[in-house]
Amino acid sequence: MRLGGPLGVTVVGAGYVGLASALSLAHGGHRVAVLDRDATRLAALRRGEDPLGESGVAELISSTDIAYTTEPSEAFADVDVVIIAVGTPTTERGTADLSALRAAVQTVAERARPCTVLVRSTVPVGTSDELQSGPLHAFKVVANPEFLREGRALADAFTPDRIVAGGATDAADIVRSLYASITSQSWTAVAGLVPGDRPLLLWMDRRSAELAKYAANAYLVTRLSFVNEIANVAAAAGADVRAVLETLSKDPRIGTGYLQPGLGWGGSCFPKDARALLSFTTDLGYDFSLLRAVVDQNNAQLVRFFRLITESVPAGARLALLGLAFKSGTRDTRQSPAIALADLLVKRGHELRAYDPMVRGPIPGVPGLVGLPTLAEAVDGAHAVVIATEWPEFAALDLDELRRALSGGLVIDGRCILDGRRVAAAGLRYVGICPPPPGIID
Ligand code: UGA
Repeated sequence: MRLGGPLGVTVVGAGYVGLASALSLAHGGHRVAVLDRDATRLAALRRGEDPLGESGVAELISSTDIAYTTEPSEAFADVDVVIIAVGTPTTERGTADLSALRAAVQTVAERARPCTVLVRSTVPVGTSDELQSGPLHAFKVVANPEFLREGRALADAFTPDRIVAGGATDAADIVRSLYASITSQSWTAVAGLVPGDRPLLLWMDRRSAELAKYAANAYLVTRLSFVNEIANVAAAAGADVRAVLETLSKDPRIGTGYLQPGLGWGGSCFPKDARALLSFTTDLGYDFSLLRAVVDQNNAQLVRFFRLITESVPAGARLALLGLAFKSGTRDTRQSPAIALADLLVKRGHELRAYDPMVRGPIPGVPGLVGLPTLAEAVDGAHAVVIATEWPEFAALDLDELRRALSGGLVIDGRCILDGRRVAAAGLRYVGICPPPPGIID
């Protein structure tokens, strides 16, 4: 191994984080292998297919030379750095389920030669220290959380805002060497990606790196729940939440991101990380009451939107549900507020006809819920449309066509993507999280 030159990198886990890390590091010149238990996924990757539906992934799979394997002996043949990027889902208790992580660690401990191990999975504070003093004592363990967003996984891997790594000082050089093409932004443009600002590599201790990840997600959900509260207050007070939030966004201390109100935040990360942070702070004897309130607010926000719907439509009315993914730009439906809403609506006896640009076919967990192939099939003859995911194509709906297709002439916007004035001007009734102030609409 020569620091500054190509490293042998083995990524354990071929999900969003593992694959985006592997592709960006291989494109940056390292020799990369990806190890996963899922032989079907690996076979698809070897055929050059993108299992994630992320922009640019298919192109990068074919332009890089990564070994995709289920075999540890093959994966660890030439290894300087192991990156563990397996899932850490939530247990019933809300704690992080570390069983996949522990299995990966065991494989590394038994099959890899002593090298540097980066823990990229989101893990409770203290986990990497425990691995360092336990099963990975012969390795150099570095906590290296990721901050990538689904739908932008490659962009966030190639041009991250910052790289966070925590470990003993003697591991810093190899980590800097691993990420050299990213910190210098010296990689060549590919798959619609172009180099951008150089991110800092923030070096710290393992516990701080682990907590930094939870703190970032906890801050973002706090902000989102705050924004949703302000939307609710604005609706009750007859104020225009868009104007209020625009005012906030112009304050550089606040900034523009994560100010879009809606029916609640979801996805495979925010809910699980908020619960895990609550759970391990409770174990530390600390009552994180603010975060508990944020999680409660999020649950209440969904119920609030559900009530808004049920108060506006006749019992049993057929509804067109627009959106199934937890946000736009992804086909991921894990912890999707749209699906939690669908479940409540189906239980109340509504017939749902759902459409999402990236989600097709039966949706597990909600009987009868199916992602239809076209928007028209969902909308035709429905009493109302319910917008549950902020896809740009829903913001650009042809309102005249919609009025002709709907039997009840009602638009219910759970993502604040339509202007209620425009909807009313098209002869439709508008209900939503962000109603225009009374007087403006009439
Ligand atoms: C989130 C974080 O943004 C990433 O930085 C982090 O790396 C990742 O979790 C993770 O922990 O792995 P992601 O789950 O892809 O990324 O989703 P976001 O784009 O952050 O959106 C999360 C939820 O918030 C979605 O339901 C989205 O619709 C909602 N949201 C987001 C809003 O309701 N309003 C907004 O203004 C922004």
